[in-house]
Amino acid sequence: MQNPTQSSSSSPSSSHYSTTLYTILTLTTLLLLLIFFSSSSFPSSPPPPSFSDPYLFPHRPSTTQYHNHQLLFTNNNNKTSNQSPPPSPTIAYFISGSSNDSSRIIRLLLSIYHPRNQYLLHLDRSATQKERDFLALTVQSVAVIWAAQNVNVIGKSDLVSPKGPSSISSTLHGAAVLLKLSSDWDWFINLSAGDYPLVTQDDLLHILSYLPKDLNFVNHTSYIGWKESRIFKPVVVDPGLFLAEQSEIFYGTQKRPLPDAYRLFTGKFSVLPIYYYSQYTNISFALISRKFVEFCILGTENLPRTLLMYLSNSLSSQSIYFPTILCNSPQLNKTVVNHNLQYTAYDSKHEPRALNSHDFNDLINSGSAFGSMFSRDDPVLDRIDQKLLNRRQGQPVPGGWCLGGSSDEVCAIWGDADVLKPGPGAKRLERLMVELLSNETFNSRQCIFE
Ligand SMILES: *[C@@H]1O[C@H](CO)[C@@H](O)[C@H](O)[C@H]1NC(C)=O
Ligand SMILES: *[C@@H]1O[C@H](CO)[C@@H](O)[C@H](O)[C@H]1NC(C)=O
Ligand SMILES: *[C@@H]1O[C@H](CO)[C@@H](O)[C@H](O)[C@H]1NC(C)=O
Ligand SMILES: *[C@@H]1O[C@H](CO)[C@@H](O)[C@H](O)[C@H]1NC(C)=O
Ligand SMILES: *[C@@H]1O[C@H](CO)[C@@H](O)[C@H](O)[C@H]1NC(C)=O
Ligand SMILES: *[C@@H]1O[C@H](CO)[C@@H](O)[C@H](O)[C@H]1NC(C)=O
Ligand SMILES: *[C@@H]1O[C@H](CO)[C@@H](O)[C@H](O)[C@H]1NC(C)=O
Repeated sequence: MQNPTQSSSSSPSSSHYSTTLYTILTLTTLLLLLIFFSSSSFPSSPPPPSFSDPYLFPHRPSTTQYHNHQLLFTNNNNKTSNQSPPPSPTIAYFISGSSNDSSRIIRLLLSIYHPRNQYLLHLDRSATQKERDFLALTVQSVAVIWAAQNVNVIGKSDLVSPKGPSSISSTLHGAAVLLKLSSDWDWFINLSAGDYPLVTQDDLLHILSYLPKDLNFVNHTSYIGWKESRIFKPVVVDPGLFLAEQSEIFYGTQKRPLPDAYRLFTGKFSVLPIYYYSQYTNISFALISRKFVEFCILGTENLPRTLLMYLSNSLSSQSIYFPTILCNSPQLNKTVVNHNLQYTAYDSKHEPRALNSHDFNDLINSGSAFGSMFSRDDPVLDRIDQKLLNRRQGQPVPGGWCLGGSSDEVCAIWGDADVLKPGPGAKRLERLMVELLSNETFNSRQCIFE
């Protein structure tokens, strides 16, 4: 069957252009910028891109013979070993960071880059416009990104208070832009500059290709206990919602009761650290389906909006929003997996701590797709690049689309981006997935009222 990504990327759809309305620096804008700057900044500038690179997105006959990412789930089973694997899905990534995060974002982007995916990068308002421009130009100087045209940078930034509701508004903004940018991604992943992958994109896409596309991977619990008074009852005002300059959240003197029209769910453990905000508290990762993103942004149910209004005066809204909607919507509550595929370590105060080389084996054994949080340029990141991702500094992770190159540029020759080459990471992730989706685990941890 014809792959939807291919057809849309081969013809620039009108939605590509309408996104300029959203004040993104779209590729078109970047093209212009690059025409002005390319001769000086990029001596060996890549060939002018077309909207469908013939090597990355060749027009294939409608057979699946090129999907050579078999194995896994079939290699012990003779009955199915002749079936071709399901077509590979597509992930939309929203990557956010603050001032001075542009180099971390570029490193993270290269480590999760795949020509099939969509990427939207956001530097919040604490970063300078100069840094934002630097980010956009650097990204477009990577030849394969230039050719696949699947990375965008938000030109007009949002002001984000990490523990206040402006962070959820920024995430929904990113998700809405991604819905506009591409009509065919299947999952949405929200990352911050301190996250890093533990498997390659080929591993992740390969495993996801076997799963129903409506699954949502979100840590959640309805256990509130002592958090109630400290987190849910205070009324706060987040200046990020209405002031142009960053300033502290205001705390109201009044408290309010918990809602009874719906049940609140939060991310596990994520409330305490965000309340005592420190630099390692951005744990709000989730892998959610396109259907759910559309439910929140375009849907006709009112809960996504009423909850947003409620949360506009709450702390830690980003850890409440997604799980609460999922678990309170009968059409979605069967799709939640209570694990976010991310490895996080906690210190003795239950506060998430930075991961380092001592955590390397635990990171691998967890089978998780991502780890969080890493300090800037921590040596363990180099080890992950070397041992798990096979990534060279400044270059993307080689995948099935990468047919070869030189030592300067590992992936100078491109092949069909639909061909995945999963490695050992897919095995690790498969083990975790089998455990999570086994009957007992799946049902017994889903939206439980505690
Ligand atoms: C798979 O095929 C091999 C050789 O054809 C056979 O020895 C083995 O028993 C088969 N395994 C299963 C699970 O059917
Ligand atoms: C950003 O980095 C520069 C140099 O690397 C440093 O001088 C500056 O203090 C940093 N700013 C912040 C907010 O960390
Ligand atoms: C957490 O988020 C804040 C604000 O967005 C950012 O300054 C900080 O660097 C982040 N922490 C990590 C470890 O990424
Ligand atoms: C998405 O990630 C950003 C950056 O870490 C964070 O501020 C935001 O709260 C996250 N949103 C959700 C819904 O998890
Ligand atoms: C989902 O919602 C339906 C209807 O409200 C309810 O009967 C069911 O128990 C819920 N399932 C879960 C897993 O919460
Ligand atoms: C998410 O849940 C899983 C399983 O319950 C747990 O191992 C992991 O630490 C949780 N992640 C966070 C960020 O709380
Ligand atoms: C899982 O549960 C479903 C429905 O409850 C049942 O049909 C199926 O046989 C179960 N599978 C296993 C492996 O237990």
